[in-house]
Amino acid sequence: MCGIVGAIAARPVAGILLEGLRRLEYRGYDSAGMAVLNQGQIGRLRRIGKVQALADACAQQSLPGHLGIAHTRWATHGKPSEQNAHPHMSGERLAVVHNGIIENFEPLKRELEQQGYVFTSETDTEVVAHLLDRELKTGLDLLAALRKTMEFLEGAFALGVIHADQPEQLLTARKGSPLVIGVGIGENFIASDQLALLPVTDRFMFLEDGDIAQLEAERIQVWDAQGQVAERAISTFEHGQGSAEKGEFRHFMLKEIYEQPRVMQAVLEGRIASGHLLEQAFGSDAGAVFDRVKQVQIVACGTSYHAGLVAKYWIEELVGIPCMVEVASEFRYRPVVLPEDTLLLTLSQSGETADTLAALREVKARVLATLAICNVPGSSLVRESDLSLMTNAGPEIGVASTKAFTSQLVALMLTTIALGRRHGLSADKETALVAALEQLPELFQQLLALDGPIEAMSAHFAEKRHALFLGRNVLYPVAMEGALKLKEISYIHAEAYPAGELKHGPLALVDKEMPVIAVAPRNGMLDKLKANLQEVRARGGELFVFAGCEESIQSQEGVHVIHLPALPPVLDPIAFTLPLQLLSYHVAVLKGTDVDQPRNLAKSVTVE
Ligand code: G6P
Repeated sequence: MCGIVGAIAARPVAGILLEGLRRLEYRGYDSAGMAVLNQGQIGRLRRIGKVQALADACAQQSLPGHLGIAHTRWATHGKPSEQNAHPHMSGERLAVVHNGIIENFEPLKRELEQQGYVFTSETDTEVVAHLLDRELKTGLDLLAALRKTMEFLEGAFALGVIHADQPEQLLTARKGSPLVIGVGIGENFIASDQLALLPVTDRFMFLEDGDIAQLEAERIQVWDAQGQVAERAISTFEHGQGSAEKGEFRHFMLKEIYEQPRVMQAVLEGRIASGHLLEQAFGSDAGAVFDRVKQVQIVACGTSYHAGLVAKYWIEELVGIPCMVEVASEFRYRPVVLPEDTLLLTLSQSGETADTLAALREVKARVLATLAICNVPGSSLVRESDLSLMTNAGPEIGVASTKAFTSQLVALMLTTIALGRRHGLSADKETALVAALEQLPELFQQLLALDGPIEAMSAHFAEKRHALFLGRNVLYPVAMEGALKLKEISYIHAEAYPAGELKHGPLALVDKEMPVIAVAPRNGMLDKLKANLQEVRARGGELFVFAGCEESIQSQEGVHVIHLPALPPVLDPIAFTLPLQLLSYHVAVLKGTDVDQPRNLAKSVTVE
């Protein structure tokens, strides 16, 4: 949560900082601010609301200067307000931006107040500014003061620091929160992620936990947690599918939905050939690991968790070994039982979700191996896992995850095949699965043709306050994901149920004000699902059905059916997802909500 960006350059940095903030806005957007050093004075501007409000303020009152830091906030300590917006200062000469949470800020604040510091915000961050100032006053230089300050801080942080007496340096430090250094020519940058800096560089240095770095225009020096000089490799940004621009689309979410045919291609590229999985895609050590796996534990949050739930059906059906799935925030805090030879599989679009990372760290030493399925190369999750498989979906900017989810599903099917090979999945079956996967790019193209009918269907939802999603079997998690999408961006309360549970409670809610959305497979469960749908109709409930094949269910009064193109059944969960994404999108547009940046949410949840 929160995005930070900083720059030291020969050219003015305010524009670079603003563009960086725009690109980081997905991390939080309740207020934004910037501090730039100019002729020995720090100029600071902060505004409540989105980055555009700060941009408007900058247009009125320019902030010239070659060294600066900036921040877009997702409130944790203290409400969204100008006073709580970053950068925070101690006096007039020291400014700090922070992403993360200082858990022990209360005792630190009390101590600093006793020492005469006056706090102007309710944030945890302000203690960092005053601690730095206090340490400077003991005679330490800025770097040593930052090192000393870090000793006092508990929790997670990525920091950017500037001081009016040090016009040639931008300091940064990280522990538990993401931070990259962008390496330019005669200029250097910091940011919460690479996307923020792509207009100015594609070369990046990733800091390790506990690192401090000093950036000058021509030089970067890094020290590790022990204070030793450290070398951190520079890597070039791998441009995946898509870009961080909206292009002709009205919203990033729609653009990302429409990118899915290409994304399906990208996640398969280099992973399959001649009807077989190329196992090396998981890394050279993967084969030896897969040979030993006896069960899989999946851990993830949000949409990624739903992908994990789909994988449970696949792994137990096609591999025949147990697969447990749990949300990371629960998993990390309970004494979990991990049988011998468990593969810990983490799923994350960003690779920086705090709970998922903490879960990984918590049990890493107790499992056979760790595998991350992730969309961001070089993210913490990828770096800290034994094995990884990138989903290659390209930057996902819309807060509601779309292409990341479907690409995770493909990566999970590849993992299922890799494990299945060791547990009796025949070569013929593998070839059939691979052939099915190869159809995905074309199939997604056909699915996008449903956009018009789905848009028309969305009109039925705009005035509704609740919705119920039903699915069975492997489409139950897909129904959960459909409900999540709808609530995230349209603020309609939506719940998903396995259709067989309908009679055990939710049926009591069904009337004409409660639309029911069903994802109808074309397997043995269809007749059972049809019976459930009758139960809904009998209570006056209006039904919206995404159905597998023409003959299965037809539209009639109170029953609106959209048929999907013919597809191999194994692709059902991947294919049925796209129409549900489109439905949520169109409902949100009709309701006029902020599709890409829904209220109260953030894309990358880097705090608990
Ligand atoms: C946030 C996002 C969701 C995402 C979840 C997990 O809640 O808004 O879209 O599914 O975090 O994020 P991850 O990056 O770990 O997949």
